[in-house]
Amino acid sequence: MSRFPLECVTTLRSLRRMAIILVALLAVSAIDARAAGAIPDTIAQRMLACTPCHGKDGRATNAGYFPRLAGKPAGYLYNQLVNFREGRRSYAPMVDLIEHLSDPYLREIAAHFASLDLPYPSPTPSRASAQVLQRGERLVLQGDTEKNVPACAHCHGRALTGVEPAIPGLVGLPRDYLTGQLGAWKAGQRHAAAPDCMAQIAAKLTSDDIAAAAAWLSSRPVPDRGKPAPTAQRPMPMSCGGVQP
Ligand code: HEC
Ligand code: HEC
Repeated sequence: MSRFPLECVTTLRSLRRMAIILVALLAVSAIDARAAGAIPDTIAQRMLACTPCHGKDGRATNAGYFPRLAGKPAGYLYNQLVNFREGRRSYAPMVDLIEHLSDPYLREIAAHFASLDLPYPSPTPSRASAQVLQRGERLVLQGDTEKNVPACAHCHGRALTGVEPAIPGLVGLPRDYLTGQLGAWKAGQRHAAAPDCMAQIAAKLTSDDIAAAAAWLSSRPVPDRGKPAPTAQRPMPMSCGGVQP
């Protein structure tokens, strides 16, 4: 007897999801915009398809799960779009939008979001204990020699705002997103092009390490409007696929 209302709710949810995807697909293909004539056919217009999840201009918020796109290194964004298209990362509603897009179009999308210079929201104060935050700070800035984990800042930049062309910043991301991504690498659900250095690093971290790093990182303000460093200050301690000098 109780199955009927439950199915109703599920159907409504999937109908709503289908509607969002349909609207987004239309916008991303830009066919409707051209046919209508009234709407300018610009990349910004087409990328409105991404804003229901990624926020206005891909700037997200510092809560919830959706990652910011605005201002991230273009090579990093491009690599991720390819990773989603080729199944190294998965999130079905997004894959539906980009799976048929060509490499040059994905590059154009990546360059568009990378070029947006928008302020970040203030960080959310952490509810983690001082001990947890200290552990997170140590791991990020100094690494853990016993576990053979290099400092995150070694690759992600001294200011933790990333490094051009393909290393993302670690500040300005929601805590849940950071925990989710590190957990996904550890569980073999997120992959990067080989050699997948983040998979090797995540494998050595416990869930407490991950929680501590995410708590500390998400409590930090974003310096320099989150601008990635133009070049790495020192050679990387491990090699990472998709990161060309
Ligand atoms: C239905 C919601 C939704 C829509 C619409 C959507 N995305 Fe996403 N996107 C997500 C989620 C959720 C993630 C994180 C997925 C994960 O790895 O767990 C993500 C991740 C990404 C990433 C990786 C970000 C990073 O920091 O690693 C890129 C790049 C991206 N999306 C681009 C786009 C673009 C471009 C569009 C529009 C064409 C778009 N997305 C539309 C939900 C969405
Ligand atoms: C050897 C260099 C290196 C080190 C050290 C490193 N990272 Fe990374 N990290 C990368 C690269 C390269 C990527 C991009 C991977 C990809 O293309 O998917 C990345 C991506 C990430 C992402 C995904 C960001 C997003 O927007 O989805 C997170 C989170 C992350 N690293 C956290 C960490 C943490 C925490 C540490 C320290 C414990 C760390 N990294 C240490 C190279 C490194």
